[in-house]
Amino acid sequence: MELKEVVGRRRSIRFYLPHKPVERAKIQKMLHAAQRASCVGNVNNTSAVVIWRDEASAELLKRITPPLGYQQMQTAPVFILWYADTDAYEIERWTGHLLDLADQRRIGVDVEETKTQINDVLKPVFGSMWKDMAVSPLAFMDVGQAVAQATLVAYDEGLGTCCMSSPRLEQVANLLDLPDTAVPICLQSVGYPAESWEAGGQTRKAPFEQLFHEGRHGRPFLPDPEVEEQLRTEKLLQREAPLPDRDDELRYVVRALGLEGEFVHFDRS
Ligand SMILES: Cc1cc2nc3c(=O)[nH]c(=O)nc-3n(C[C@H](O)[C@H](O)[C@H](O)COP(=O)(O)O)c2cc1C
Repeated sequence: MELKEVVGRRRSIRFYLPHKPVERAKIQKMLHAAQRASCVGNVNNTSAVVIWRDEASAELLKRITPPLGYQQMQTAPVFILWYADTDAYEIERWTGHLLDLADQRRIGVDVEETKTQINDVLKPVFGSMWKDMAVSPLAFMDVGQAVAQATLVAYDEGLGTCCMSSPRLEQVANLLDLPDTAVPICLQSVGYPAESWEAGGQTRKAPFEQLFHEGRHGRPFLPDPEVEEQLRTEKLLQREAPLPDRDDELRYVVRALGLEGEFVHFDRS
């Protein structure tokens, strides 16, 4: 699948085929995609624990179930707990990665000169603030980028996913033996969609010109309709939710999975 189509097809999937296990190789591919993500100074602060439903304890499954979003919990065969490792920002580790970037010729031009600047200029500055930077918006953006890349690879592999927030993530962290330096970010369910791949259509977003600005805030970046048409052809923009048969599909999926009464009644008549 072309990249733009993968982006267009991605939408949160909340019903999975419970009888179809996810291949370990596909989860590995997701993790490789996460590892390849851009991150501040190449700190490599994104980590994850893969949880296979079949092997998880009843207590763990209970803890990872958030108060909202029960649907995906009922059927997903795999969950990934993504976390930020604040220890990756520890000054020696961090500058070690920067020095390595110099060795790789990824930053600077002259290796020795770049290393001298890292040691003499950056290290003293970062040395006093690395603990704050380890929990700054940029650090969590690193994790977001990694999860986004893993997510796109999942869709390219025919899987569906849904991220979940949960106030109980700290408890989950304990059950998974995460170190004190870990900041759990989100839990992601992964599985083969039990819904059609369209899953009722592409999730509607806020208006483009409301989100994006040009030159300064308040001057909307006006989208060119021809570009939008091109993106429709390239399948990044797709039919929006809810598609006409969505209610029927939801009733069908809920019945097929035996989930009636488990979380939401769709039929209000
Ligand atoms: C960090 C994060 C946390 C989320 N938490 C939940 C959740 O607890 N339950 C849920 O059903 N969906 C959750 N979602 C999915 C969002 O509701 C979904 O991404 C949003 O509605 C946009 O839809 P889309 O993913 O189909 O584009 C979460 C998504 C993200 C990125």
